[in-house]
Amino acid sequence: MKIGVIGPSDKEIMEFINKICDVKIVEYAMLKFYVGNYEGVEVVAVICGVCKVNAAITTQILIDKFEVTHVILTGVAGGLDKKLKIGDTIISNDIAHHDVSKEILIEYHPYMKDIYFRANSQLINTCEKIMKSKDISNKCYVGRIITGERFITNNEREELIERFNPLCVDMESASVAHACYVNNIPFVVIRSISDNADEDASNSFKNNVNIAALNSMKITEEIIKELKFIGCN
Ligand code: ADE
Repeated sequence: MKIGVIGPSDKEIMEFINKICDVKIVEYAMLKFYVGNYEGVEVVAVICGVCKVNAAITTQILIDKFEVTHVILTGVAGGLDKKLKIGDTIISNDIAHHDVSKEILIEYHPYMKDIYFRANSQLINTCEKIMKSKDISNKCYVGRIITGERFITNNEREELIERFNPLCVDMESASVAHACYVNNIPFVVIRSISDNADEDASNSFKNNVNIAALNSMKITEEIIKELKFIGCN
Protein backbone atom coordinates (compact mmCIF):
# COMPACT_ATOMS: atom_id res chain seq x y z
CA MET A 1 0.00 0.00 0.00
CA LYS A 2 1.32 3.42 -0.97
CA ILE A 3 -1.07 6.34 -0.55
CA GLY A 4 -0.96 9.50 -2.65
CA VAL A 5 -2.26 12.43 -0.60
CA ILE A 6 -3.19 15.56 -2.54
CA GLY A 7 -4.08 19.05 -1.31
CA PRO A 8 -4.81 21.94 -3.66
CA SER A 9 -2.98 24.60 -1.60
CA ASP A 10 -0.37 24.91 1.18
CA LYS A 11 -3.10 25.53 3.71
CA GLU A 12 -4.91 22.39 2.73
CA ILE A 13 -2.02 19.94 3.20
CA MET A 14 1.18 21.44 4.67
CA GLU A 15 0.36 20.42 8.26
CA PHE A 16 0.14 16.84 7.06
CA ILE A 17 3.34 17.10 5.01
CA ASN A 18 5.16 18.34 8.13
CA LYS A 19 4.27 15.08 9.88
CA ILE A 20 5.75 12.80 7.20
CA CYS A 21 8.86 10.93 8.42
CA ASP A 22 12.06 10.24 6.44
CA VAL A 23 10.83 12.69 3.84
CA LYS A 24 12.48 13.06 0.45
CA ILE A 25 11.37 15.69 -2.07
CA VAL A 26 11.11 14.67 -5.73
CA GLU A 27 10.09 17.14 -8.46
CA TYR A 28 8.08 16.55 -11.64
CA ALA A 29 6.16 19.08 -13.74
CA MET A 30 7.09 21.92 -11.37
CA LEU A 31 5.43 20.05 -8.49
CA LYS A 32 7.13 18.91 -5.27
CA PHE A 33 6.27 15.39 -4.18
CA TYR A 34 7.00 14.61 -0.51
CA VAL A 35 7.85 10.93 -0.31
CA GLY A 36 8.11 9.23 3.09
CA ASN A 37 6.02 7.50 5.68
CA TYR A 38 3.22 8.55 7.98
CA GLU A 39 2.64 6.31 11.00
CA GLY A 40 4.41 3.49 9.17
CA VAL A 41 2.43 3.85 5.92
CA GLU A 42 4.22 4.79 2.71
CA VAL A 43 2.83 8.12 1.49
CA VAL A 44 3.53 10.60 -1.31
CA ALA A 45 2.03 14.01 -0.54
CA VAL A 46 1.78 16.96 -2.90
CA ILE A 47 0.33 20.45 -3.26
CA CYS A 48 -1.33 20.18 -6.68
CA GLY A 49 -2.42 23.81 -7.19
CA VAL A 50 -5.96 25.04 -7.68
CA CYS A 51 -8.27 23.88 -10.50
CA LYS A 52 -8.81 20.85 -12.62
CA VAL A 53 -5.80 20.56 -14.93
CA ASN A 54 -3.36 20.88 -12.03
CA ALA A 55 -5.20 18.19 -10.11
CA ALA A 56 -5.29 15.82 -13.10
CA ILE A 57 -1.58 16.24 -13.89
CA THR A 58 -0.69 15.61 -10.25
CA THR A 59 -2.83 12.50 -9.97
CA GLN A 60 -1.38 10.96 -13.13
CA ILE A 61 2.17 11.59 -11.91
CA LEU A 62 1.37 9.99 -8.54
CA ILE A 63 0.11 6.92 -10.40
CA ASP A 64 2.83 6.68 -13.09
CA LYS A 65 5.99 7.83 -11.33
CA PHE A 66 5.28 6.85 -7.72
CA GLU A 67 2.98 3.87 -8.32
CA VAL A 68 0.59 4.85 -5.56
CA THR A 69 -2.07 2.23 -4.81
CA HIS A 70 -4.65 4.65 -3.37
CA VAL A 71 -5.34 8.37 -3.64
CA ILE A 72 -6.84 10.68 -1.00
CA LEU A 73 -7.67 14.30 -1.83
CA THR A 74 -8.03 16.57 1.20
CA GLY A 75 -9.15 20.20 1.31
CA VAL A 76 -12.01 22.64 1.66
CA ALA A 77 -15.27 23.12 -0.24
CA GLY A 78 -18.29 25.36 -0.61
CA GLY A 79 -21.39 23.91 1.03
CA LEU A 80 -24.50 23.52 -1.17
CA ASP A 81 -26.75 21.54 1.14
CA LYS A 82 -28.65 23.56 3.75
CA LYS A 83 -27.81 21.15 6.56
CA LEU A 84 -24.07 21.86 6.27
CA LYS A 85 -22.27 24.13 8.73
CA ILE A 86 -18.83 25.66 8.42
CA GLY A 87 -16.28 23.03 9.47
CA ASP A 88 -18.47 20.02 8.66
CA THR A 89 -16.79 17.39 6.51
CA ILE A 90 -17.91 15.64 3.35
CA ILE A 91 -16.63 12.22 2.33
CA SER A 92 -17.12 11.69 -1.40
CA ASN A 93 -19.61 9.13 -2.57
CA ASP A 94 -19.89 10.16 -6.21
CA ILE A 95 -18.31 13.12 -7.97
CA ALA A 96 -19.10 15.01 -11.18
CA HIS A 97 -17.65 17.83 -13.27
CA HIS A 98 -20.39 20.51 -13.20
CA ASP A 99 -18.86 22.31 -16.18
CA VAL A 100 -18.45 19.41 -18.62
CA SER A 101 -21.35 18.35 -20.88
CA LYS A 102 -22.66 14.88 -20.21
CA GLU A 103 -22.13 13.83 -23.86
CA ILE A 104 -18.39 14.51 -23.69
CA LEU A 105 -17.92 11.87 -21.02
CA ILE A 106 -20.48 9.37 -22.34
CA GLU A 107 -20.06 9.49 -26.13
CA TYR A 108 -16.27 9.92 -26.12
CA HIS A 109 -13.41 8.54 -24.06
CA PRO A 110 -13.75 7.35 -21.26
CA TYR A 111 -17.29 6.30 -22.43
CA MET A 112 -18.85 6.53 -18.98
CA LYS A 113 -22.32 5.14 -18.21
CA ASP A 114 -23.23 8.38 -16.46
CA ILE A 115 -21.41 11.52 -15.33
CA TYR A 116 -20.52 10.32 -11.82
CA PHE A 117 -17.14 8.95 -10.71
CA ARG A 118 -17.61 6.70 -7.69
CA ALA A 119 -15.19 6.70 -4.78
CA ASN A 120 -13.87 3.39 -3.48
CA SER A 121 -16.33 1.75 -1.11
CA GLN A 122 -13.68 0.35 1.24
CA LEU A 123 -12.22 3.84 1.65
CA ILE A 124 -15.69 5.31 2.24
CA ASN A 125 -16.45 2.60 4.81
CA THR A 126 -13.16 3.31 6.57
CA CYS A 127 -14.08 7.00 6.73
CA GLU A 128 -17.50 6.16 8.14
CA LYS A 129 -15.96 3.92 10.79
CA ILE A 130 -13.64 6.74 11.87
CA MET A 131 -16.48 9.25 11.91
CA LYS A 132 -18.37 6.99 14.34
CA SER A 133 -15.49 5.96 16.58
CA LYS A 134 -13.43 9.15 16.93
CA ASP A 135 -14.32 12.28 18.78
CA ILE A 136 -14.78 14.54 15.77
CA SER A 137 -16.40 17.78 16.85
CA ASN A 138 -18.01 18.76 13.54
CA LYS A 139 -20.45 16.62 11.60
CA CYS A 140 -19.40 14.37 8.72
CA TYR A 141 -21.55 13.33 5.78
CA VAL A 142 -21.03 10.93 2.87
CA GLY A 143 -22.37 12.28 -0.41
CA ARG A 144 -21.98 13.95 -3.75
CA ILE A 145 -19.30 16.47 -4.62
CA ILE A 146 -19.29 18.56 -7.79
CA THR A 147 -16.29 20.29 -9.35
CA GLY A 148 -15.72 23.14 -11.79
CA GLU A 149 -13.15 25.70 -12.81
CA ARG A 150 -14.50 28.58 -10.72
CA PHE A 151 -15.26 29.70 -7.19
CA ILE A 152 -19.05 29.45 -6.76
CA THR A 153 -21.08 32.25 -5.20
CA ASN A 154 -24.78 33.10 -5.08
CA ASN A 155 -25.17 33.50 -8.87
CA GLU A 156 -24.78 29.81 -9.58
CA ARG A 157 -25.69 28.20 -6.29
CA GLU A 158 -29.36 27.36 -6.94
CA GLU A 159 -28.83 26.15 -10.49
CA LEU A 160 -26.09 23.73 -9.37
CA ILE A 161 -28.27 22.39 -6.55
CA GLU A 162 -31.12 21.81 -8.99
CA ARG A 163 -28.93 20.09 -11.61
CA PHE A 164 -26.85 17.85 -9.33
CA ASN A 165 -28.31 17.74 -5.81
CA PRO A 166 -24.77 17.85 -4.35
CA LEU A 167 -23.51 18.34 -0.82
CA CYS A 168 -20.65 20.62 -1.82
CA VAL A 169 -18.61 22.16 -4.63
CA ASP A 170 -14.88 22.50 -5.21
CA MET A 171 -12.36 22.95 -8.01
CA GLU A 172 -10.35 19.69 -8.07
CA SER A 173 -12.22 16.58 -6.92
CA ALA A 174 -13.72 15.44 -10.23
CA SER A 175 -10.30 15.67 -11.90
CA VAL A 176 -8.64 13.49 -9.29
CA ALA A 177 -11.59 11.10 -9.53
CA HIS A 178 -11.43 11.14 -13.34
CA ALA A 179 -7.70 10.36 -13.40
CA CYS A 180 -8.15 7.58 -10.83
CA TYR A 181 -11.09 6.15 -12.79
CA VAL A 182 -9.18 5.78 -16.07
CA ASN A 183 -6.25 4.19 -14.20
CA ASN A 184 -8.43 1.97 -12.00
CA ILE A 185 -6.97 3.38 -8.77
CA PRO A 186 -9.15 3.54 -5.63
CA PHE A 187 -9.69 7.04 -4.29
CA VAL A 188 -11.69 9.06 -1.81
CA VAL A 189 -12.12 12.81 -1.35
CA ILE A 190 -12.38 14.50 2.04
CA ARG A 191 -13.53 18.13 2.09
CA SER A 192 -14.47 20.38 4.99
CA ILE A 193 -16.81 23.32 4.47
CA SER A 194 -15.17 26.77 4.37
CA ASP A 195 -18.19 28.71 2.98
CA ASN A 196 -21.70 28.23 1.68
CA ALA A 197 -21.05 29.17 -1.95
CA ASP A 198 -23.34 32.19 -1.47
CA GLU A 199 -23.07 36.00 -1.43
CA ASP A 200 -20.70 35.84 1.57
CA ALA A 201 -18.57 33.01 0.13
CA SER A 202 -15.35 34.98 -0.44
CA ASN A 203 -15.33 36.42 3.08
CA SER A 204 -16.32 33.17 4.66
CA PHE A 205 -13.62 31.32 2.71
CA LYS A 206 -10.95 33.75 3.95
CA ASN A 207 -12.13 33.47 7.56
CA ASN A 208 -12.59 29.70 7.65
CA VAL A 209 -10.17 28.11 5.21
CA ASN A 210 -7.59 27.34 7.92
CA ILE A 211 -9.91 25.62 10.35
CA ALA A 212 -11.78 23.73 7.62
CA ALA A 213 -8.49 22.57 6.06
CA LEU A 214 -7.34 21.28 9.46
CA ASN A 215 -10.58 19.33 9.97
CA SER A 216 -10.14 17.63 6.62
CA MET A 217 -6.47 16.82 7.27
CA LYS A 218 -7.30 15.38 10.69
CA ILE A 219 -9.74 12.92 9.13
CA THR A 220 -7.23 12.11 6.37
CA GLU A 221 -4.63 11.24 9.02
CA GLU A 222 -7.08 9.01 10.88
CA ILE A 223 -7.97 7.20 7.66
CA ILE A 224 -4.34 6.47 6.87
CA LYS A 225 -3.80 5.11 10.39
CA GLU A 226 -6.90 2.95 10.09
CA LEU A 227 -5.89 1.65 6.65
CA LYS A 228 -2.59 0.51 8.12
CA PHE A 229 -4.47 -1.30 10.86
CA ILE A 230 -7.06 -3.05 8.67
CA GLY A 231 -4.98 -3.33 5.49
CA CYS A 232 -6.47 -2.36 2.17
CA ASN A 233 -6.96 -4.14 -1.15
N1 ADE B 1 -13.80 25.72 -2.47
C1 ADE B 1 -14.17 26.30 -1.30
N2 ADE B 1 -15.25 27.08 -1.48
C2 ADE B 1 -15.59 26.99 -2.79
C3 ADE B 1 -16.59 27.58 -3.58
N3 ADE B 1 -17.49 28.42 -3.05
N4 ADE B 1 -16.63 27.27 -4.90
C4 ADE B 1 -15.73 26.43 -5.43
N5 ADE B 1 -14.75 25.88 -4.74
C5 ADE B 1 -14.67 26.13 -3.42
